[in-house]
Amino acid sequence: MAKRSEKTFYITTPIYYVNDIPHIGHAYTTIIADTISRFKKLTGYDVFFLTGTDEHGQKVEKAAKEKGLTPIELADQMVVRYKDLWKALNIANDSFIRTTQSFHEKGVQKIFQKLKDKGDIYKGIYKGWYCDSTEHFLAEDVPLEEGGYKICPECNTKAFIVSEECYFFKLSAYQKPLLDFYGKNPAFVRPQSRMNEVISFVKQELKDLSITRTTVEWGIPVPDDSKHTIYVWFDALHNYLTGIGYDWDLSHFQKYWPATVHLIGKDILRFHAIFWPAFLLASDFPLPQTVFGHGWWLKDKTKMSKSKGNVLDPHIILKTFGADPLRYFLLREIPIGLDGNFSHEGFIHRVNSDLANDLGNLVQRTLTMIQSFFNGKIEETDKEGKEDKKLRLEFETTKKKTLKLYEDYAINKALEEIWSYINSVNKYLAVNEPWKLSKDKSKRKKLGRILYQAAAALRTIAFFLFPVMPESSEKIWNFLGEEKPIGEESFRELKFENLKLGQIIKKPEPLFPRIALKDFLKEEETRAAPARKEEKMEYISFDEFKKMDLRVGEILNAEKVEGTTKLLKLEVDIGVEKRTMVAGVADVYSPEDLTGKKVTVIVNLKPAVIRGIESQGMLLAAEIDDKATISFFDKDVPTGAKVR
Ligand code: MSP
Repeated sequence: MAKRSEKTFYITTPIYYVNDIPHIGHAYTTIIADTISRFKKLTGYDVFFLTGTDEHGQKVEKAAKEKGLTPIELADQMVVRYKDLWKALNIANDSFIRTTQSFHEKGVQKIFQKLKDKGDIYKGIYKGWYCDSTEHFLAEDVPLEEGGYKICPECNTKAFIVSEECYFFKLSAYQKPLLDFYGKNPAFVRPQSRMNEVISFVKQELKDLSITRTTVEWGIPVPDDSKHTIYVWFDALHNYLTGIGYDWDLSHFQKYWPATVHLIGKDILRFHAIFWPAFLLASDFPLPQTVFGHGWWLKDKTKMSKSKGNVLDPHIILKTFGADPLRYFLLREIPIGLDGNFSHEGFIHRVNSDLANDLGNLVQRTLTMIQSFFNGKIEETDKEGKEDKKLRLEFETTKKKTLKLYEDYAINKALEEIWSYINSVNKYLAVNEPWKLSKDKSKRKKLGRILYQAAAALRTIAFFLFPVMPESSEKIWNFLGEEKPIGEESFRELKFENLKLGQIIKKPEPLFPRIALKDFLKEEETRAAPARKEEKMEYISFDEFKKMDLRVGEILNAEKVEGTTKLLKLEVDIGVEKRTMVAGVADVYSPEDLTGKKVTVIVNLKPAVIRGIESQGMLLAAEIDDKATISFFDKDVPTGAKVR
């Protein structure tokens, strides 16, 4: 394959599952990719930035069924949500791929066939522990229970051994080539700590990978064997090839492949750093340069996820603040490799202090003075003095450092540098007090110099900030009378004195709203409430409710389940008989707390085997931060009484 030209830069995000709407975690990856892509364009690269959606597989099939939709109907709805969000966040991706597009499906089938012909894909029997209720094979590392079976960690029920005919990818054959590749490319995975993690995983035995399913209908059919569908990860990873033209626009494909950087969350590192290069080695494509695994945004110290109910909807912040404060906060708060905890306090603090105070005030003050003292014109000035030179030299060092830090994807550090420069400009104004000079006619040129310095610095600040805050930067640029877009100036050619004398500035509008924390929280609460209601409230009919047999149960005995920290085995009298139940409450209640207590029990729930004990019912409890609070009665009630 032809080698791609040095000046191209191909960056990707993961393609997002369409089983659910996007949250701040998804937005984070895409914002980083957009920032890097904009930066690279400013340094003269021919950039291609690809994002999209991952639409096949069991997750999507199941989510669609629950919503009463076909998978493609659900995908069509979710794609709109993703695209709208990217627009609101000012994401300038060059293309958006959907894995249900036919060019992608054909490309994946072609590669599948190629590897099959070559012998890297072969048919065999997959044997594994399968859970009926969650409909999936358990991971290899789920431990065997004493009775010689496994328990599904997702639903706590017993799994069974199932054999299924499927196609395997010969991953085992790529152990050595992968290790050789990592050895020659030690910066393939970043941050470095994650490279070590990957190497030690590959050094253990690499088993062949099952890459088809007969249990999932919603997937790309295996060529000439359509009772099998291709496993969603084999399908999805190839979007990085098909999305730039593999099998449909060869010259475009050759121009950009191999990818310069696959930006991903650390949760999907193995897929990208092990399976993906192995697939590519097998099909003879050059390997990507870097896989960058970023950290997670946490809420209340846990990863945001719909099932935990702790996801943050970016739309609420976007409606109040616009895109730039959110982009700035997410990138400024943590280095890309580490986790961060999202707090509204932290967000408001950054917006008010860094954006409204430091930057917003500087823009307002400088431009308003030029309006009032020079009628909006960048005027003739005194020669450069000592303080002025200092500021210009600070621009030079900020430029060098920022360039290097952005190159290195150390965006938070680049922002720190830019802010230290902003603060120097603020200090320069405070020391020189231009507002005092305005009354003295003989100081007019001196006043011109001071305001020129501030405005010229602002122009460079807008430029530096453009990759992170494109909208506000472009506004500052326009306030300063620049007519061409920022993107037409290049990073290397940026000079302090590029602000021309005689230029006419515009009247500035406020850039960042200053909002008090309590008002923001109130706003967030009122906006989130109807959304929450709409999302979570799935009504059931009274007849459906009546199917639940709820009764007052008396706990006769309670004891800890050995080898667990959370489980209690309970003997519960439900009036007509005694039942054994296993409850995950031992971290909150001791056996003595519960003996003799009356609780609400659902008695017609299908029994489940938990840790080898058949649990024949479930008691009701509130779950707060993963801890149970059992619902007791406030008066004595007869054992066995119906609850409705
Ligand atoms: N569809 C797969 C990716 C296939 S790529 C060939 C997938 N999709 S996903 O929608 O579940 O998540 C995609 C990405 O969203 C994660 O890898 C990560 O980049 C981002 N995030 C999701 N939740 C996140 C946080 N809470 N914090 C930061 N990013 C996270 O996996």
